[in-house]
Amino acid sequence: MQSIQAEKLKKEADALILAHYYVPGEVQDMADYVGDSYALAVKAAHSDKKVIVFCGVSFMGESAKILSPDKTVYLPERNAHCAMAEMADVREAERMKREIPDLAVVTYINSGAALKAVSDVIVTSSNALKIVSALPQKNVYFIPDRNLGRYVAEHDASGKKFYFCEGHCPIHARTTKEDVLAAKETHPEALFLVHPECPAEVCALADCVGSTAEIIAFARRSQKKQFIIGTEEGVLHALKKSCPDKQFYPLREGMICEDMKKITPEKVLAALRGEVAPVEVDERTREGAERALKKMLELAK
Ligand code: 13P
Ligand code: SF4
Repeated sequence: MQSIQAEKLKKEADALILAHYYVPGEVQDMADYVGDSYALAVKAAHSDKKVIVFCGVSFMGESAKILSPDKTVYLPERNAHCAMAEMADVREAERMKREIPDLAVVTYINSGAALKAVSDVIVTSSNALKIVSALPQKNVYFIPDRNLGRYVAEHDASGKKFYFCEGHCPIHARTTKEDVLAAKETHPEALFLVHPECPAEVCALADCVGSTAEIIAFARRSQKKQFIIGTEEGVLHALKKSCPDKQFYPLREGMICEDMKKITPEKVLAALRGEVAPVEVDERTREGAERALKKMLELAK
C-alpha cells in the first residue's frame, strides 16, 4: 500500500528515493536504490530527477545536496544523525595542515559539511584504501574514524605516515574479539564478514572486511551457506533478500543504529509530499565540501 502511494507521489514530485542498508527493511523496500555510502553518493550525483529523498542519516542527505545543489533534497527525518560525524574538529584539521608539511586531510564521508570543506579528499569504507594509496602526500590525517583509519594504515603499501583522532562509531567500536570467538563457536561453519569501523582485533578474525555493499557482494558470491555479520543489523534485510538460501547471524546483540531506525515509511511519504524542510548547506561550505567530494569521485573510479 505504502509502495503504491510512494510510486504515485514519486512521479508527481519527479523524485528518486535512495536508502542506506541500515534503514528499516520496509523503508529499503520503498527505495529506487539501496546502497552503501559510496554508491548512494554516486547515484545522487548522477540522478536526473528534480528531487532526492534520502533515507539515511543527515550527512548522507547533506552530501547529496553538496553534489547536486540544484536539486531539492529531503531527509525524511532531519534529526537522524551519525554519532561519529562531529567527532573530529575543524580547527584541529586546519592546525594539522598548517603544522605538518606535505599532509593530506582525508575525511570519512560520515562527517559534517564544515569538516568536508577543510579536507583534501573524502573517502568511504569501500574506497578509502585505494584513494589514500593514490595520494601524492607523504602524511595523512585520517578523520574521524580511528578504526577505518587504522585499517587503511595497516594495508597501505605506499609508506605514508598516518595521524588519527579518536572518532569512532559507537555501534561498531564496541565489538570485541570475544564476540567473534563466541559467534564462531555457536556457528562453526559460518564465515565472518565485518565492517572496517570495527576494532583491529575484530577485523583480524574476518574472512572479509568491507563496506556494507562489499559484505553483501561477498555473501552472494560465496559457495558457503552461513555467515556471521559484523555490522549494523539492517544489512541482514538485504542479505536475506538477495541470498534466500543462506543463513546470516549478527555478530552480537544490539548492533543497531538508532538514528537510521528513525526513518519510517510514513516519513518517506511526507518527504515525497514536500512536507519537510529541504536540506540546505551554506554556499561557501558547500563549495569546499564539493571540491573534496568530487576528488573522491575522481579517485575512486
Ligand atoms: P557503508 O559506506 O559501508 O555503507 O557504511 C556506512 C556506515 O555508516 C557504516 O556505519
Ligand atoms: Fe554513524 Fe555508526 Fe550509524 Fe554508521 S552505524 S551511521 S557510523 S552511528
